[in-house]
Amino acid sequence: MSNAEHDHTTRRDFIYYATAGAGAVITGAAVWPLVNQMNPSADVLALASIRVDISAVDPGTQLTVLFQGKPVFIRRRTEAEIAEARAVEMSDLIDAEANNANFDNDEPATDENRTLDEAGEWLVQSGVCTHLGCVPVGDGAGDYGGWFCPCHGSHYDTAGRIRKGPAPRNLPIPTASFVDETTLQLG
Ligand code: FES
Repeated sequence: MSNAEHDHTTRRDFIYYATAGAGAVITGAAVWPLVNQMNPSADVLALASIRVDISAVDPGTQLTVLFQGKPVFIRRRTEAEIAEARAVEMSDLIDAEANNANFDNDEPATDENRTLDEAGEWLVQSGVCTHLGCVPVGDGAGDYGGWFCPCHGSHYDTAGRIRKGPAPRNLPIPTASFVDETTLQLG
């Protein structure tokens, strides 16, 4: 076999294998959800935790995901939002507890005890008002620059702590962790 023929064969084989490989991946992806749907225990497991890609969440924006049927706000806070939350006196808070499922016991509702990372950039919290369950609006809403629940007028600050209105508790922090720099796991 000449060199030219050898090269041609090799290239054609490579294309064949590459195509077969891609086909296998596509088939696998198409079949997997069907298998999953037929398996109740896998379904239950899927609800127990989810992974969220946060690579497109810029500072000052929020991603809302549904977890166990309820909205969860994943906010990437700005420096100003962090500074504002950290300047709050504990004595000004209505709910003095962090309401954070990542702690075994109730801890004080400092900003540091509410955020997922030490720098306080990531705030992951329930998107359900602790009064009667409406979904608060965000993006600096309300008198404290965090979230505002329009149902009965509850104001939450930039750490999701209740500051004014009928809601009794800070927005709950669900069990959450970083899988890597751009992926969060809820549950
Ligand atoms: S449900 Fe949010 S203030 Fe009543």
